[in-house]
Amino acid sequence: MNPIYKFPIMTAEEAAELVPHGAKIALGGFTPAGAPKVVPKAIAERAKELHNQGKEYKLDVLTGASVSSSIDDKLAEAEAVRWRAPYQSSRLMRQSINADKVEFVDMHLSEISQMVDYGFLGEIDVAIIEASALDNRGRVCLTTGIGCAPTFAKKAKKVIIELNSYHSPRLSEITDITFIKPPPNRYPIPIYHPLDKIGLGHIEIPPEKIAAVVETHCPDEVTPFGECDDISRKIAANLVEFMLNEIAVGRVPGNFLPLQSGVGNINNAVLKALGENEDFPAFCMFSEVLQDSAVELMERGRITGVSASSLTIVPETLQHVYNNFDFFSHKIVLRPQELSNNPELVRRLGVIALNVALEMDIYGNVNSTHLFGSSIMNGIGGSGDFERNSYLSVFMSPATAKGGSISSIVPMCTHVDHNEHTVKVIVTEYGVADLRGKSPRSKAETIIKNCAAPEYRDYLMRYLTSSHKGHIGQHLDNPFELHLNYLKSGKMLP
Ligand code: COA
Repeated sequence: MNPIYKFPIMTAEEAAELVPHGAKIALGGFTPAGAPKVVPKAIAERAKELHNQGKEYKLDVLTGASVSSSIDDKLAEAEAVRWRAPYQSSRLMRQSINADKVEFVDMHLSEISQMVDYGFLGEIDVAIIEASALDNRGRVCLTTGIGCAPTFAKKAKKVIIELNSYHSPRLSEITDITFIKPPPNRYPIPIYHPLDKIGLGHIEIPPEKIAAVVETHCPDEVTPFGECDDISRKIAANLVEFMLNEIAVGRVPGNFLPLQSGVGNINNAVLKALGENEDFPAFCMFSEVLQDSAVELMERGRITGVSASSLTIVPETLQHVYNNFDFFSHKIVLRPQELSNNPELVRRLGVIALNVALEMDIYGNVNSTHLFGSSIMNGIGGSGDFERNSYLSVFMSPATAKGGSISSIVPMCTHVDHNEHTVKVIVTEYGVADLRGKSPRSKAETIIKNCAAPEYRDYLMRYLTSSHKGHIGQHLDNPFELHLNYLKSGKMLP
């Protein structure tokens, strides 16, 4: 597509003027990948100026997943946000939410498009979408993160395009965009293999809706992972051993199943460990994010292909992908999150879901989002989309946090994102608890014995054995004694 500029070309500052106080804005992309880079920051600057003049300026901000931390940080710092959904991972935004200055709605990412489409979240005034190319018919090639951009662009009253020359327009070759029909006329989604494509490589926006085009040349703000630490390596080793045994006993097919992997250091270590273990078959991924370790494993033939909503990879790795696009274009498909995280597809393809928990209880409930029941960390993200519908639902976590003063395994989670009916396997650096087919008491014994840190096992076992009778034993008078201890003394076991 040749860029033929019939659209108003503006600076980021001029485009920011198009967003009035009280507007609901929707940002394209998924994670920092494909997120708009300059207009949201100009909006934050404008908010500060208006506040200095004593004027009101606050927005409702909807995204696909997280955006770059600097966007959320700047918007939060400028006190420019009234309402935020569905996921964030920024220190300042988190603080604003936890201080009750921003209303935050934590949602399953696969549901956002449908909720926007049917107006559950109100009208979108302005969508801000990053593109690698557009033409005068309003055909827009997105960049490294698809997220909800197609739906945001369809539903918004006006659209601001950040046309980013940093990105390769060849990304349209790996982009697969389609809209799911409304119920009850919804057909099965014809994706039978993670790399099947069923849609278009671009979106179409009525040209009259494009209110501004802002030209940029900016990399995605994806930060590199640290070196794998010992605990991540042990968790990864435990998981690999468990998976190899699953294959050996025939519970997982010998050629394996599509894998979903959350983001972060533990998932990065797990992917590396699965990829580097030659006893493990080459595998494909049906995930929401493609991260750095997957690129190298694709080149080595250990990962055969990836379906995701974003290329969340550092700029050097992305340049490597662009330089070798003939190879990667056959191995990657980028989809809207409604499809990358689609429960129907996750269940039908038999996805094995691997995500990280903050806290897990002895009965197999998992908390991914709220510390001490109150303070949000990031949000549920796509973890529920995948875990609830997966063939095998796995959660991993270090057995302790804060130098051992917190046990990640507790009698009762202070907040539950994934319940005992969903969670099938728990992995820590101490071992694996396979919860399939186990009663609550048997689950608790296995989790305590195999996964809890040794110094917490006696306490947890005492809780279990002395708990009131019933199917699930609890001390209703004090299921949160460990948490209360920590809040009082800085240690769960004083
Ligand atoms: N109680 C209190 N604090 C805890 C804790 C617990 N049980 N477990 C961890 N923490 C603290 C850590 O000490 C750390 O504190 P710090 O920031 O002051 O250092 C913080 O919480 C984050 O913990 P960390 O172990 O560094 O988290 P992580 O980067 O591995 O991320 C999640 C873990 C759960 C927050 C992250 O995976 C997430 O947001 N998950 C939900 C979304 C998701 O799963 N998406 C998957 C699809 S991509």
